[in-house]
Amino acid sequence: MDDGEAKLQSSVHVERKGALEIWLINRPERRNALDRATIRLLGKLAEQAACDSSLRAVIISGKGGHFSAGADLKERQQMSKEEVQELLSLYRTVFGAIDRLPVPVVAAIDGVALGGGLELALACDFRIASSSAILGLPEVTLAIIPGAGGTQRLSRLVGPSRAKELILFGKRVSGKEALEMGLINALAEESAISFAEEFVAPLLEGAPIAIAAALEAIDAAWNHSLEEGLSIERLCYERTLASEDRLEALRAFNEKRKPIYKGK
Ligand code: COA
Repeated sequence: MDDGEAKLQSSVHVERKGALEIWLINRPERRNALDRATIRLLGKLAEQAACDSSLRAVIISGKGGHFSAGADLKERQQMSKEEVQELLSLYRTVFGAIDRLPVPVVAAIDGVALGGGLELALACDFRIASSSAILGLPEVTLAIIPGAGGTQRLSRLVGPSRAKELILFGKRVSGKEALEMGLINALAEESAISFAEEFVAPLLEGAPIAIAAALEAIDAAWNHSLEEGLSIERLCYERTLASEDRLEALRAFNEKRKPIYKGK
């Protein structure tokens, strides 16, 4: 898509602002609940983003004042056990693809991020919430458990004890409480989406190969022993060594100017 071009999709509205793409879940009449079509669309967007060399960051948010009220419980009521199982696999694939994107992804949370909505935010690299936001994983109160990565990603982020408190009690926390427990990176006084744009701006001019390598190496810390993680860090470092941007950084330093990174 060209700069400034806005593309209307059925349930996710995509806006392109230079090197930044903003994905807005667009089902305000259902508080942006995630039905199958929306999850599939997010998966398609992640697939396209992964091979877009001009993209430097993504913000995910929602239209109508909410991030997402989670799984579409009206759709879910019509689904068989087998269909729910298929949906869980779809969630896993799509949120995994978002998690692994080589560009930073920021969740900008206004209003509610509940259930699958919060799980989507947990698959992002950063979370910004407005002070009036409400975050929670209420699945256990609905006689199920978070099934789109919530038990794993929340525990890793805030520790198992806090994760158990949120999940078992279905506790809903405010933006301020979420900040205090490390669930979000920053609190926006007003609109989370405007804050997220400012937050991510420095990364749009950053060195893309280094940013992708850092994301991959940091994410490896979750899933590997220290020794394995250190080997992955080394491999990621070597990708930056081979880049033209590394040489540009050294030239710019010596010429006392701002580097211009091309992602090469
Ligand atoms: N799935 C499907 N529809 C949903 C939904 C969901 N998760 N959350 C809200 N909606 C629908 C409501 O059914 C309602 O539709 P209707 O007018 O046809 O009845 C519409 O969105 C507005 O919801 P309402 O509850 O009237 O709005 P609100 O602003 O007062 O409250 C929420 C918003 C999100 C706090 C509240 O709807 C809620 O708690 N939803 C359930 C969230 C949840 O448990 N998610 C976890 C799923 S595992």
